[in-house]
Amino acid sequence: MRVFGIEFRNPVLLASGVLGISGYLFKRIEKMGAGGIVTKSIGISPRKGYENPTIVELDYGILNAMGLPNPGVDHFLEEIKDLNLSIPLIVSIFGKDSEEFMKIAKKLENYCDALELNLSCPHAENYGMSLGQDKNIVYKITKDVKKTVEIPVIVKLTPNVDDIVKIAIAAERGGADGITAINTLKGMAVSIEMEKPILKNIYGGLSGRCIKPVALRCVYDICRNVKVPVIGVGGITSAEDALEFIMCGASLVEIGTAARDLNVFRRISEGIEKFLRKKNYTLEEITGKITKNI
Ligand code: FUM
Repeated sequence: MRVFGIEFRNPVLLASGVLGISGYLFKRIEKMGAGGIVTKSIGISPRKGYENPTIVELDYGILNAMGLPNPGVDHFLEEIKDLNLSIPLIVSIFGKDSEEFMKIAKKLENYCDALELNLSCPHAENYGMSLGQDKNIVYKITKDVKKTVEIPVIVKLTPNVDDIVKIAIAAERGGADGITAINTLKGMAVSIEMEKPILKNIYGGLSGRCIKPVALRCVYDICRNVKVPVIGVGGITSAEDALEFIMCGASLVEIGTAARDLNVFRRISEGIEKFLRKKNYTLEEITGKITKNI
């Protein structure tokens, strides 16, 4: 299947932010059946991230605030430059403004298949969502990165806005080749014993099964209003979940929290295949089936 002009062996990709950024790990994810890899977000220079605790395990999902830790783009390039993956590598990048995004994008252009702009991390001051909540900023950054590189540029959106469709349209107008929806929901957790917030950063991003209905609603609304392909992400743990996103219009899906078990990629892509055989459909025939019918 081809999306953004890139060939994918199946529609089930690793989402950004879940696993590390070592070449060894990417090779392992390729072996475990993923259709593609979206890396952890990479910035212009090394960044330590927040102090612990950075993760809270909840009965219904995970709250995390890692603080965009990464080795910086130059070191990251060393990790990927001789990888020779047989599946597409999409590098997630973050910056504080257009200039920073453009610099990172240019450095990576020859070493990956596409870029995913993180305009959606819900808790990093001056980055992510603080840019991605403003449609004019989303438009400008997308446009500037697009004029800098020739590879596809995908924009990852935050659900923490009054109207995600408005932001998706701004990204599309800026020339985005695709939209990823959604990043995590901003939240917090409190220890009543310690009488304080659990996360060092206070606020974190909520992911996991509990956010699936929100993610699905966002994908459905976006797909009815933009023409570029959409990647659905948020709480997907089964083939049935993935098929819901695909029927709402997603061309690909990303697996985040559930990718702690690497068997998830094969399980979901084989489950999708099985459903298609049972119904005698192609993937194209069910993509957006619900969206188109309404
Ligand atoms: O804490 C983090 O590094 C999260 C990043 C994100 O949500 O995009």
